[in-house]
Amino acid sequence: MRTLVVYESMFGNTAAVAAAIAAALEPAGPVRLELADARPAVGDAELVVVGSPTHGFALPSRLSRRAAQAQGADASAAARSGIREWLAALEPTDDAAGRPPFAAAFDVRQAPGSAGAPSHRVRRRLDRLGFRVVGEPASFHVGPTAGPLRDGELDRASAWAEALHGLVR
Ligand SMILES: Cc1cc2nc3c(=O)[nH]c(=O)nc-3n(C[C@H](O)[C@H](O)[C@H](O)COP(=O)(O)O)c2cc1C
Repeated sequence: MRTLVVYESMFGNTAAVAAAIAAALEPAGPVRLELADARPAVGDAELVVVGSPTHGFALPSRLSRRAAQAQGADASAAARSGIREWLAALEPTDDAAGRPPFAAAFDVRQAPGSAGAPSHRVRRRLDRLGFRVVGEPASFHVGPTAGPLRDGELDRASAWAEALHGLVR
């Protein structure tokens, strides 16, 4: 199974979750782990996993990335585009076998639960574009805004990825 894990991250926590997911899927086949930009390149991926931080109960925007920078995030991360722009430019896609790829979404957030979780909106958008969405969107949690992730969240991310693999086999 060829996988694309695409993400954005202001403080590095979504990057860490994305890396854990990529590592968990690597035994199943090649994994591309990429920062999102406004030029989606799904290529021959059979599974696309999309991850973002939660900003204001939504996907990060140019404004919220600047707010993150004001709270200590890296300036280069604030200057980049992210999943919002990646999704806006994403088009219906087929894999090498002529079928739309499987797709799943996760987010990283501070608040408990998943109210306003952007992964749900990302999932809907992927569904509308014809991707074969699998599994439930997942939210992984940081303590403070800048992290670190709460204990056990990287293990939970690995388990979520393994469950995804089970669903698309
Ligand atoms: C501008 C801004 C708005 C945020 N809004 C929310 C929010 O609405 N709900 C929430 O749970 N966390 C919120 N957070 C916390 C982020 O979810 C947290 O910083 C992020 O997930 C960390 O991931 P990253 O290290 O990949 O950037 C916000 C953070 C920032 C900087």
